[in-house]
Amino acid sequence: MDNETLVSYAKKAMGNAYSPYSKFSVGAALLTTEGEVFTGCNVENSSFSVTLCAERCAVVKAVSEGYTSFSKLAVVSSSGKFTFPCGSCRQVLAEFMEEGNIIVSDDEKGIREYRLSDLIPHTFILDDMD
Ligand code: THU
Repeated sequence: MDNETLVSYAKKAMGNAYSPYSKFSVGAALLTTEGEVFTGCNVENSSFSVTLCAERCAVVKAVSEGYTSFSKLAVVSSSGKFTFPCGSCRQVLAEFMEEGNIIVSDDEKGIREYRLSDLIPHTFILDDMD
């Protein structure tokens, strides 16, 4: 699937964002290595700290359906500017994206693609002490 199409899935998912507190909507679209797409949006809560990011929403939807290997994630936000996954989402994505890429989109500057390993080098790995 091309990046433009994946971004369009993320934009559609952004329409479902529940973000009454920040008023900042985020949408994500995850492409599995099998070619399936799972989308997510941010889901805020009046207890702010339990807010779920769009990226992790997409990841838990996919994993709970039996998909645990991802090749690309597109993320967009209501800012219309490049929006990157937060640090916690990068760590969660790294668990399931060996060589995956992150696609970001800016209404004026277009689409850019980054290797997840460039965005989060040296991820935490449980057996790193060996
Ligand atoms: N948010 C995401 O959905 N993904 C990120 O990577 C960072 C932030 C959401 C959480 C919250 O609902 C809003 O953006 C403002 O922080």
